[in-house]
Amino acid sequence: MFMQFEHRFFYFSRMPANQPIGIFDSGIGGLTVANAINKCMPNEALVYFGDTAHLPYGDKSPEAIKYYSLKITKFLMDEGCKAIVIACNTASSLAYHDLKLFMGNQIPIYSVIDPVVEYMTATDQYKQIGVIATRATIKSNVYAEKIHLQKPGISVKSLATPLLVPMIEEGFFNDQISSTLIHTYLSDPQLQGIDSLILGCTHYPLIRNEISAFYNPSIDIIDNTEIVAKHIYKELKRMDLLNQDKPLPHQFYVSDFTDSFEKSTQLFFGQQIRLNLRQIWD
Ligand code: DGL
Repeated sequence: MFMQFEHRFFYFSRMPANQPIGIFDSGIGGLTVANAINKCMPNEALVYFGDTAHLPYGDKSPEAIKYYSLKITKFLMDEGCKAIVIACNTASSLAYHDLKLFMGNQIPIYSVIDPVVEYMTATDQYKQIGVIATRATIKSNVYAEKIHLQKPGISVKSLATPLLVPMIEEGFFNDQISSTLIHTYLSDPQLQGIDSLILGCTHYPLIRNEISAFYNPSIDIIDNTEIVAKHIYKELKRMDLLNQDKPLPHQFYVSDFTDSFEKSTQLFFGQQIRLNLRQIWD
């Protein structure tokens, strides 16, 4: 109880509630998370950073992902963010622990994985959980490890599905190509017998309907964006960090600008937004 009060006081006293929430991803896929946060907390200003210069993180080494994530986190802190959301499953898998150590008690930082693990293990409903994600996320084994810490009896079946990100980015969904690829991945013996499937990548909410159609609807498809947004809302409320003033405008930054990134924002954020180029690399 005392600790909780101390944390609340500590964060609140350092960072005013009307400061923005910082959100980052390897690119613009994390806008699916930003969109869910925006819908859940329309009064909050967002500063988004998409590291389009280094995309995709899913095929990078843990060292590179940690380095990029730390640099972006420092940038978001310099922008005065009151909290940071790692809106990327790959960076959440590989850099969250280091970032948390780096931040100490300065401002809260959230991964997109822990709220989902909490959600999945809060009930006895799930006994065989499937996870699909990038190669780096699956190799980290983070979902299985965190789920087993809460409930060792749950079986976690993970499958890397690396072609789904480029497929979606190239605009192939709700068509023959996406149907064939999704069918091929989900038919993998590794995923047989699951009662739920975690969409462990920022891009996968866009093909949620196609995945649901494959299972027709015998298993629960877990899209983490809404779960993460609700978790952050509850946390900010608990720390008296929800904005009560008129919100500042959102800011969207990328480390490499192209027209096609800007056009694709419509897909991930539900509306086209203006991306600003921001160089944060030495
Ligand atoms: N944002 C990444 C994720 O959620 C997918 C794209 C990438 O590999 O960078 O894992």
